[in-house]
Amino acid sequence: MKFDVVSKKVDSVKADALVFPLFEEDKKFENNLKKVDDLLSGELSRIVKSQKFKASEGKILAVPTFGKLKVNYVFIVGLGSKKKFELDILRRISAYTVKKAKELKTSDVVIDIDTDFEGVDIKEAVQALTEGAILGSYNFDKYFSEKDDFKVESISFNTSKNVNKESLKEYIHLGKVLAEAQNFTRDLVNEPANVINTIQFAKIAEDLAREYGFEIKVYDEEEIEKMGMGAYLAVAKGSENPPRFVHLTYRPEKSEGEIVIVGKGLMFDSGGLNIKTGDFMRWMKTDKAGACAVLGVFKAIGELRPNITVHGIVAAAENMPSGKAYRPDDILRAKNGVTIEVGNTDAEGRLTLADALSYASELKPDAIIDMATLTGACVVALGEFTAGVMGNNQKLINEVLKISEKTGEWMWQLPFNDKLREQIKAPHADVYNVGTTRYGGAITAGLFLEKFVDPKIPWVHIDIAGPSHHTSGWYYHPKGATGIPVRTITTFLLKRANYLK
Ligand code: BES
Ligand code: ZN
Ligand code: ZN
Repeated sequence: MKFDVVSKKVDSVKADALVFPLFEEDKKFENNLKKVDDLLSGELSRIVKSQKFKASEGKILAVPTFGKLKVNYVFIVGLGSKKKFELDILRRISAYTVKKAKELKTSDVVIDIDTDFEGVDIKEAVQALTEGAILGSYNFDKYFSEKDDFKVESISFNTSKNVNKESLKEYIHLGKVLAEAQNFTRDLVNEPANVINTIQFAKIAEDLAREYGFEIKVYDEEEIEKMGMGAYLAVAKGSENPPRFVHLTYRPEKSEGEIVIVGKGLMFDSGGLNIKTGDFMRWMKTDKAGACAVLGVFKAIGELRPNITVHGIVAAAENMPSGKAYRPDDILRAKNGVTIEVGNTDAEGRLTLADALSYASELKPDAIIDMATLTGACVVALGEFTAGVMGNNQKLINEVLKISEKTGEWMWQLPFNDKLREQIKAPHADVYNVGTTRYGGAITAGLFLEKFVDPKIPWVHIDIAGPSHHTSGWYYHPKGATGIPVRTITTFLLKRANYLK
């Protein structure tokens, strides 16, 4: 998909579709929309005034022009009410516009950006529209024998205002890189476990490192054992696919700091000996969503090259039942020496993360962020669309939450407390891998992870069990993987690097 910024008079715009975003309240047309309405003999404003079309969020009115303009269609796209407006609505309407354009086989689209987006900066608006178009056209169709090959080829943003085109183009580029990185993550998460196993995952990380010049070290099972990662190793034992511990490093010449991002990387989670039942086992190929988000973030920083050192850590494994599998009651020793009693082999993610976080702590970074499809309890607490955020440093938590408000990747903090800390006391080891009750399960999982992070290092845990995938999709997410939270984490890094304000 190609993007551009233009300043053309509406009667000279040549395209398949000319698009006008419109607020519900705006019954009186202005600027270019007024001119187009005049050229169409007032037909558009008549429809809007008669209430036959209400510009509620995402509603689209597509009007053929029958040769009265040099475009085949004029779209009016509803932004909803001004009171409820936020940046993410631009991503959504852009995605819906591209879908409509596809339906009408219009491949060449011009979007008018003269609308006053309620105080949203025009650069951010254009970035969001770009992201929405790319995210909204994503489709995991590689295994279908018959595909719909029609694509929207080009999107131009048209403005009559005096804007700095070059700076708008920079934000288009940023949006393009972020959305394509997110689609890259979606592609990886959507691949089933018979295609991406632990070894394949490590290969993909190596390919990425070669492409962008990252350092990479992949540890095999012998080396993992030598490092003393007894918790991670136990999880991997039941599978024919051996564990692979991946450490990627992006090291720019000039660096404003050092961050570690860690992703839960279960290529498949059957539950192990505490095996999941049918419905709960479906979609467990997406238990690698955190790991794939790490690779997506690396793709984005490989393109943008911000001034910040970034480590990406994944302890890749597959959780399977077998004669070699770890059991309930087993006592394990993690890399940092903490002993763990296994209450349930389906609480495996936190065991792999225990060793990954111990390893991350030894790198002594400025901050650690982990992303993990960790608990069903988090989905029960917050619903399918919101990630749970926890950690040991309120400032860092606030930093991430603030960014997520703009990226549209919904997040909400869950509180740690000492009463729940009591729940992960084990009968015969330092810590239990499950809580003694089901209540607060997302938080007890977070509290378990806390034991493996150096308390001097600010750390945030993002539980993405809900929003990492969806069976039917929402807004600009199709069914399957969403690629959340690639844009939030990349934006965090860009800000820390002073690449963005
Ligand atoms: N991978 C699952 C969590 C999950 C659930 C991810 C639904 C995506 C959608 C995790 O390993 C798991 O099985 N957690 C258990 C923990 C329990 C045994 C304490 C859970 O949430 O039921
Ligand atoms: Zn599990
Ligand atoms: Zn899991």
